[in-house]
Amino acid sequence: MKQGINQHQNLQVFDAHPAVADVKSEVLAGLAQPQKTLPAKFFYDQRGSRLFEAITQLPEYYLTRTEIGLLRQHGGEIAELVGQGSVLMEYGSGASIKIRLLLEALQPDCYVPMDISKEFLIASANKLLDDYPWLSIYAGCVDYSQPLELPKALAEAPHKLGFFPGSSMGNFTPAESQAFLRRARTTLGSGGRFLLGIDLAKDEAVLHAAYNDSQGVTASFNKNILRHLNRTLRASFSEELFEHQARVNHSQSRVEMHLVSKIDQMVHVAGTTIVLRKGESLHTENSYKYRIESLQWMARQAGFELEKSWVDDNGYFALVMLKAS
Ligand code: TRP
Repeated sequence: MKQGINQHQNLQVFDAHPAVADVKSEVLAGLAQPQKTLPAKFFYDQRGSRLFEAITQLPEYYLTRTEIGLLRQHGGEIAELVGQGSVLMEYGSGASIKIRLLLEALQPDCYVPMDISKEFLIASANKLLDDYPWLSIYAGCVDYSQPLELPKALAEAPHKLGFFPGSSMGNFTPAESQAFLRRARTTLGSGGRFLLGIDLAKDEAVLHAAYNDSQGVTASFNKNILRHLNRTLRASFSEELFEHQARVNHSQSRVEMHLVSKIDQMVHVAGTTIVLRKGESLHTENSYKYRIESLQWMARQAGFELEKSWVDDNGYFALVMLKAS
């Protein structure tokens, strides 16, 4: 790989060449379901990423703030559990304050951010190295929703710690989470640990507010998926004709994000006409909320034991340390 001008010496990159999704058929398949769906990854164009960043700062969105508080408070204890000489593998790109807190506490031998966007991966790795020149980074361009083959040096590292913050696992279905944990268990190996940020099941009013903020940022974020599709798939969605709705689904222990059509309408998407009835919704995302016990059960099925968990005083959010059993 070519060394960019901006590339630090202690940055290496491996590229698993993740398959490029067939965006058009994925979107059309979702829109052909009885409950129409849109793929959540379309939230995150540049504007979407900025809006999500704004969500994490909202008073109602307790998740990010609470998780950061837990990392600040318990980073020392986490580092003690894990010990020295670790390889820290993040499922995600390493742009957040969270990884900085963990890096500072843990001082791992090697940090392995993994993300599907190579550009973003390298940019955030270089930013980290500006601030932590002692760090050695081995960045992986991978799709971690797929099985993962690590370079030999990493595969053989005995002391790996996975990190998957942000309750991002909550955006998988339970079956997907189960499969994800199994693959992570294989990746992290027999001495491996996995630190997960998990949003906990709680009072409906608190959940509802977190996904229906008073400033409407979450609504803009949800609707941004339509803009993104208009641009990339020549779709003809009008944001004004949809209403953002976050529905707490107790029986499935999840918050569902929907865009509800305000009128009967037709929309064109990549040459196909989609009919939407008034009140019909496009389901854009799920955010599952766990209890520690259900997570522990799921982890067991995947070959992990729950070693320790840290929960904030409100009982809203948990950092969970899993250890290969
Ligand atoms: N991972 C975030 C979560 O589940 C994603 C998210 C936050 C989100 N707010 C949203 C997704 C609003 C769709 C709409 O909390």
